Amino acid sequence: MLIPKVENLKVQNLDATIQPGRTSIPEILQERLQIEYLLNPDAPSAIDLNSAQDVIAGLSQSHKALSPRYFYDDRGSELFEAICELPEYYLTRTETALLADIAGAVVAQVAPTQLVELGSGASRKTRLLLDALVARGPGAWYVPIDVSGGALHASAARLREAYPGLGVHGIVADFEPGPPPLPPAARRLVAYLGSSIGNFVPPADARLLRGLAARLHAGDALLLGVDLVKGEDVMRAAYDDAAGVTAEFNRNVLRVINRLLDADFDPAAFDHVARWDAATASIEMHLRARRAHRVHLAALDLSVAFAAGETIHTETSRKFTRASVTALLAASAFRLARWDEAPGGGFALALATLEGRP
Ligand code: TRP
Repeated sequence: MLIPKVENLKVQNLDATIQPGRTSIPEILQERLQIEYLLNPDAPSAIDLNSAQDVIAGLSQSHKALSPRYFYDDRGSELFEAICELPEYYLTRTETALLADIAGAVVAQVAPTQLVELGSGASRKTRLLLDALVARGPGAWYVPIDVSGGALHASAARLREAYPGLGVHGIVADFEPGPPPLPPAARRLVAYLGSSIGNFVPPADARLLRGLAARLHAGDALLLGVDLVKGEDVMRAAYDDAAGVTAEFNRNVLRVINRLLDADFDPAAFDHVARWDAATASIEMHLRARRAHRVHLAALDLSVAFAAGETIHTETSRKFTRASVTALLAASAFRLARWDEAPGGGFALALATLEGRP
């Protein structure tokens, strides 16, 4: 269930007002900061429980699983920010350095008037693209989309101040299986960074890109950050850091479920496990029950039994090759236009243009 709500933020005494459900950019030039809610901001988590069905199904099957969508409430988003700073988590650093090298060339090639970012979080890497975007002249818009209203608010207000000429239209929304309608633009560049596309298990990855393509026009472009297959130890350490931040992040899923579904998961009763699966080229994250116990989800009137050592699969992080990215793009009407690998290797940015509607 989507509950549209629009919030107006006042920045430098400029009022931004849009109607619920309205997605077009207001004509008045001063209306330069807007946050559009397509999720219920009053819910205990910003993540709407589209249906409790996926939780019931996931916990009822023999190999238990929970959807990774439940990671990113406000606390989950904060923990993820901390992961990005970890020495073991090479992804953010490597991608940021690469983006610093190529952002100007990418923006020059696409010539966008609007930068859309999926899963924008704190929008730190985005600044590299925004610098290039605003340098092209006035009238540019940034459209961050994130399930975390907290992260979106903070970054939208910061960016609006840092870039006086930039319009910011944030959308608090889930973008699976595709983003919501976007404000109109002559030419869009969509950034989907952090190798987050790897968190969608095929065919959900191609489905998401097709959902994105359906919101775009021919000539619009996608900049996709992808972590590349490399030595197993390096990859696994990135998801099992010494300080235990990733373990806390993983267990946060249980706290979100406790809140959303009035459940009594004890996060301390689960160990964090990260393992490499060569067959699917992915790191799998699990939570492993330390002892046999039962969990009750009151809102669903569901009781779930865990055996000692039994795991809940919480996240998959697929690793890519140039060939697998090309295949993924081909399944969703995008064509690879540019491929840049980080100087030391290990991470790539793929620029793809939309050929036509899928
Ligand atoms: N997109 C990130 C990745 O795949 C998400 C992530 C990082 C993550 N660390 C995690 C998800 C730990 C779950 C658990 O790298």
